[in-house]
Amino acid sequence: MTDRTETAHKAVLEQLKTLDYGRMFQPPSLKGTVTFPGLAGGAEWGGSAFDPETHLYYINANELPWLVRLVPAGQVANKLTAGKLYRYRCAGCHGPDKKGAPPEYPALDHLSDRLTSEQITSKIHNGGGRMPGFASLGDPAIQAITGFLTNGSDSAVILRKDASSVPALKYGVEGYRKFLDPDGYPANKPPWGTLSAIDLDGGGYCWKIPLGEYPELVAQGLTNTGSENHGGGIVTAGGLFFIGSTHYDNKFRAFDKKTGALLWETTLPNANNATPSTYEVNGRQYVVVAAGGGRDRPSGGSFIAFALPATR
Ligand code: HEC
Repeated sequence: MTDRTETAHKAVLEQLKTLDYGRMFQPPSLKGTVTFPGLAGGAEWGGSAFDPETHLYYINANELPWLVRLVPAGQVANKLTAGKLYRYRCAGCHGPDKKGAPPEYPALDHLSDRLTSEQITSKIHNGGGRMPGFASLGDPAIQAITGFLTNGSDSAVILRKDASSVPALKYGVEGYRKFLDPDGYPANKPPWGTLSAIDLDGGGYCWKIPLGEYPELVAQGLTNTGSENHGGGIVTAGGLFFIGSTHYDNKFRAFDKKTGALLWETTLPNANNATPSTYEVNGRQYVVVAAGGGRDRPSGGSFIAFALPATR
């Protein structure tokens, strides 16, 4: 557990006493189960990189726990209502209390301040981002859920005849939540994010280092914590490994691909959540990154290209 401060350590230990944890493949429970690594990795969606020269395989990972808690889904009655349909189909992401788990899953409790009924209906119908579309429920059911979200009306619902039946699950998931200390940092001890080079011939780690920092913790002298990171890296024939990905420090870094030594770093206007790309023009090599930021951080929309020193 975290030892960042004594208060954080105590608070996390107290919370841990109320939770289930400890075994591999421990199923979710009503108390709440500590899931480590969390639901956003482990290894990241941005992918890994393989170097044919050294047979090293590079992978960045998040190393923070999440909490998965079950909540009773309510009795499954014959009469389906908009509220029940919400619990079966929407609460898994937006929460039984409509509070969601921002920033990944938006809260839906004050929707009419932001969206018209038409916009809500269209979102449910078509989905968007990480939300699947629910056209298959049929228009009357979608209208009923829209009513439930805008004015709380729990009207009876008839699903489209061919709509897949509503699962009669006894429990739903409370939402997707990270296990954080009272100040919002991960509940475990650092590193909270890592970059590893794995030797595919031997199967062991060639090197493994923390990836990312929290600038405000660095200012307090807490460096090299690693942090949440999203995106991947690339390895070059010239001996470098490039990666952005770090969510809080907005950095883009180049490492020595054989030793993991940091050779260069720069700060981007926003976090680089995607994998960089490299290309050559007139004998000069470039690396380009997208600085998109977002999630609980400011968003951006820039591409930034860096030129490597000319070799010829
Ligand atoms: C798998 C997770 C998931 C499920 C299930 C899900 N949603 Fe969503 N929902 C999301 C995500 C993620 C977003 C944000 C999407 C985006 O950024 O475009 C979202 C956005 C929305 C929005 C727009 C909110 C806003 O502030 O713009 C509405 C309305 C909504 N969902 C309603 C529903 C309803 C109603 C259901 C059930 C029929 C449902 N969602 C099921 C993940 C989910």
